[in-house]
Amino acid sequence: MNDVLYFNGRFTTTAERVLGVEDRGFQFGDALYEVFKFSAGKAIFLGDHFRRLERGLHAIEIKSPWDESRFFAVMRELIERTAFDDGIVYIQISRGEGERKHFFPENLEPTVVAYSRAFQFPDAAKKENGIRLITAPDLRWKHCDIKSVNLLANALSKKKAQRAGADEVLLLDDDIVREGASSNFFVVRGSEVITHPLDEHILAGVVRGRVIGLAEGAGIRIDQRPIAVDELIKIDEAFITSTTMGVMPVASIDGRTISSGIGAVTARLQHLLDAAEIADAAVTHASSSI
Ligand code: PDD
Repeated sequence: MNDVLYFNGRFTTTAERVLGVEDRGFQFGDALYEVFKFSAGKAIFLGDHFRRLERGLHAIEIKSPWDESRFFAVMRELIERTAFDDGIVYIQISRGEGERKHFFPENLEPTVVAYSRAFQFPDAAKKENGIRLITAPDLRWKHCDIKSVNLLANALSKKKAQRAGADEVLLLDDDIVREGASSNFFVVRGSEVITHPLDEHILAGVVRGRVIGLAEGAGIRIDQRPIAVDELIKIDEAFITSTTMGVMPVASIDGRTISSGIGAVTARLQHLLDAAEIADAAVTHASSSI
């Protein structure tokens, strides 16, 4: 079996059409998602993803389909059934299926879908050379802290970046830099590292949280405050973080070079994250309670 799909309590493949047309995820975007990475057959930062998912479900009043041990068991079985060792798992939980109306019934059974996909993570050259960014207005809704499947604004902005020959787009609210369309954003200026604070304007990225913790442990202070657009011309380094990109240096923003090759602080954090991923995978899979 190549890829594996978990659907409402059973395993199948993505070849099977499982969703009804009146699923609220399909019709209203009434659903949340997570993406986690697995490497050498082991899930990474799985507990962090579980906790964010639970917080989101609570915020939009969808009842959680599992407790932590059931979640871990399902995800481990999904990876075990998958033929390849490195990739991502996409999870989506919608409010459920029911007659299409805005007033949602309160007794719907959530639809739970999770599947594995092979993924080409950045190679050593990409991790050294970095990516190009453009900037664009942030057109998303006002609860970007909730990882909802409503990604139209993100997808349209990201397409704009692709057409401009860039890899990611920095979303701007007037003169404030919020985050990337699918990543968090950090800048380095002298010895200062800055990233947007946690609030409704950004997603609480799992890698963002890990990097902040790792930096603190290594004596690198990270200031969590909004970054003004005009600060972008005064920075020494910039990087984005995400599950699929890790700590990824930013080579240029809107065609202006930030740094050629990875900067010293970014390199240090990238190294710390890579080591933490390996350590976490071992711990997650060694635990007997899951
Ligand atoms: N994107 N901000 C946004 C808007 C995101 O969509 C993501 C993740 C992040 C980084 O979060 P994390 O470190 O937990 O991956 C920040 C995922 C990977 C995606 O949409 O595919």
